[in-house]
Amino acid sequence: MSFQIPRGTQDIMPGEVEKWQKIEEKAKELCKKYNYHEIRTPIFEYTELFQRGVGDSTDIVQKEMYTFKDRGDRSLTLRPEGTASTVRAYVQNKLFGDPQQPTKLYYIGPMFRYERPQKGRTRQFVQFGIEALGSNDPAIDAEVIALAMQLYQELGLKHLRLVINSLGDQESRQAHRNALVEHFQPVINELCSDCQNRIHTNPLRILDCKKDREHESMNTAPSILEFLNEESQVFFENVKSYLEEMGIDYVIDPTLVRGLDYYNHTAFEIMSEAPGFGAITTLSGGGRYNGLVEDVGGPETPGIGFAMSLERILLALEAEQVDLHVQAELDCYLISLGEHSKKRSMSLLNELRNAGLTVDRDYLDKKMKAQFKAADRLNARYVLVLGDDELDKGVINIKDMQDGSQVEVAIDETTSYVLKHLEGGS
Ligand code: HAM
Repeated sequence: MSFQIPRGTQDIMPGEVEKWQKIEEKAKELCKKYNYHEIRTPIFEYTELFQRGVGDSTDIVQKEMYTFKDRGDRSLTLRPEGTASTVRAYVQNKLFGDPQQPTKLYYIGPMFRYERPQKGRTRQFVQFGIEALGSNDPAIDAEVIALAMQLYQELGLKHLRLVINSLGDQESRQAHRNALVEHFQPVINELCSDCQNRIHTNPLRILDCKKDREHESMNTAPSILEFLNEESQVFFENVKSYLEEMGIDYVIDPTLVRGLDYYNHTAFEIMSEAPGFGAITTLSGGGRYNGLVEDVGGPETPGIGFAMSLERILLALEAEQVDLHVQAELDCYLISLGEHSKKRSMSLLNELRNAGLTVDRDYLDKKMKAQFKAADRLNARYVLVLGDDELDKGVINIKDMQDGSQVEVAIDETTSYVLKHLEGGS
């Protein structure tokens, strides 16, 4: 009997995993530069957190959560995203009491959504996300967007488009909501059953409907930008001017509403415009969520963040044919011939590794030629050959695989020889 992995998941194998590690490293480096600190929250939470946090009327909560009862009959859910958990941890650990505000956090980890798998959409995916809690300054909105853009650019992506919108504050949203109800009510019977519910629960979600996208009422729907009150307008203007100050190009899309309920004011998505990226063009999404901390039981605290999946970064890199240069290499491959030299080679292996070198050897008792082949396949820079004859003389043969040259050095000097020549780059 053989087993397959569940639909919508993937194995990330050696050779591929190095790319993931490189992206993770880059993301972490960048977070350090921007002073964001890592937070690790559980993979599952109480279901109610997401119902409250992400929102009961969202597709995520209604259709996509992996929810199960544990043996104590508690309803748990595999996290579909990272913001609700981060905010829960922020409140539970009273980070709002920290004198240094805003609290700047980031996470990298698997998220789970029961979606229809397709290119760029899986059921388990890895999100890198950041959350800045405790500042209502539109400058931090620009900082959050800048970090996302910089990561893509540093990875080598060029075909990017930043789309922004404002969803306004509570008052603006209420005015817009009323206008949406008025707009969609006369045609509601022509829309899908989800939209017929959405008009009561959250009419904004109608604009995000995948089924009714082509209905003509969508094009003529009232735009949130017409309903922004003065405060919301000023906020949006400030975000835009900070982006301009940072030299970040953007386009405004008044139909960008995002698929989660917690947003207000700034909403943004970064799209890939690379030909061949696929039907789903969104690389990342985020926005401001003033009010979420309170919804999760904390004090009134503004927040903003984004998340992006590593899967979509990799698709974009592939579409743009960017090579991350992650080929694995060995500093040394150790070949021993004969029983005595095999024994001695084990302590040499230790010594080389303790000196920080990347070293491997043969464990299948292969012939010398096959061992050289292995060294080649593993991209070894130096091949160290120790036979019983050499051992008797106290020497080892070192072959530089880059230029083919060979030298004999004293066994005790192997490590210093390799270190010296690697450093010298020769
Ligand atoms: P989201 O738009 O639901 O927002 O997801 C953010 C990103 O996660 C997407 O742009 C995409 O890169 C990735 N993603 C989502 N679903 C999938 C999937 N099924 N397969 C592959 N990648 C996927 C959020 O999750 C918010 N928590 C973002 C945020 C953080 N807002 C404020 N702070």
